[in-house]
Amino acid sequence: MHGPIGVFDSGYGGLTVFREIARTLPQYDYIYLGDNARAPYGIRSFEVIYRYTLECVEKLFEMGCPLVILACNTASAKALRSIQQRDLVTRYSPQHRVLGVIRPTAEVIGTYSKTRSVGILATPGTVISNSYPIEIEHFYPDITVRQQPCPLWVPLIENGELDGPGADYFVQKYLNQLLAQSENMDTIVLGCTHYPLMLPKIRQYTPEHVRLVEQGSIVANSLADYLQRHPWMDEQCSKNGSRTFFTSENDTAAADKVGLFYGQSVAVNHITL
Ligand code: DGL
Repeated sequence: MHGPIGVFDSGYGGLTVFREIARTLPQYDYIYLGDNARAPYGIRSFEVIYRYTLECVEKLFEMGCPLVILACNTASAKALRSIQQRDLVTRYSPQHRVLGVIRPTAEVIGTYSKTRSVGILATPGTVISNSYPIEIEHFYPDITVRQQPCPLWVPLIENGELDGPGADYFVQKYLNQLLAQSENMDTIVLGCTHYPLMLPKIRQYTPEHVRLVEQGSIVANSLADYLQRHPWMDEQCSKNGSRTFFTSENDTAAADKVGLFYGQSVAVNHITL
């Protein structure tokens, strides 16, 4: 087996992670798949997110990807464990692997916080899953984790309201609700792939001493480390520097939207799942 690395998200938000992966590891071939036709995932049930994510992972396997990165917090929170522990074991060869974005973030977060009080901003689905507190506890039992769901941030970004007054209102609202949960929080994780687009606005309303953590470079460095530690997988990943983009939506404005998240406009192909 020899093929590209698959990168999956519910939509285009995962491009903020993919951008950093492609920058850190430019030599690999990549296929990006956004399930825009069924996004957002953040408000859906465990069962639905698992089913949708598995379908997309299978599609990427069919396209020849030996390794798939779930560049989506919600899918990582609600589907990754079942896929790794059930589907990969029973239905695929051991040469197939799926990785997420929550564990790499949890692994390093303890090196950022001095007060040992960390906040998570994420979709309702990610918050309800409790994945961040569970994963962080695993690596840093001395850290207290507080969470805040931000159900309106993804729709605001998706609808081009990043600079509107609604964004100011809801950024302040959710941030204040998070900060009110702990007096000494010094680190906040942007636990949704869309949120880096809101970073300037989030920064504006966050106390200066609080560090805001984006996941892109964390996930990219973790993948580089993974490929180094698993040379058999590295050998399976083809290296011609190609990038191909797919969306499940019939999206005429795809190139513009991709530009917003990826930093450059690229051709996007439609795919039926
Ligand atoms: N990409 C998702 C995440 O990182 C957010 C978008 C959605 O709700 O589908 O959680």
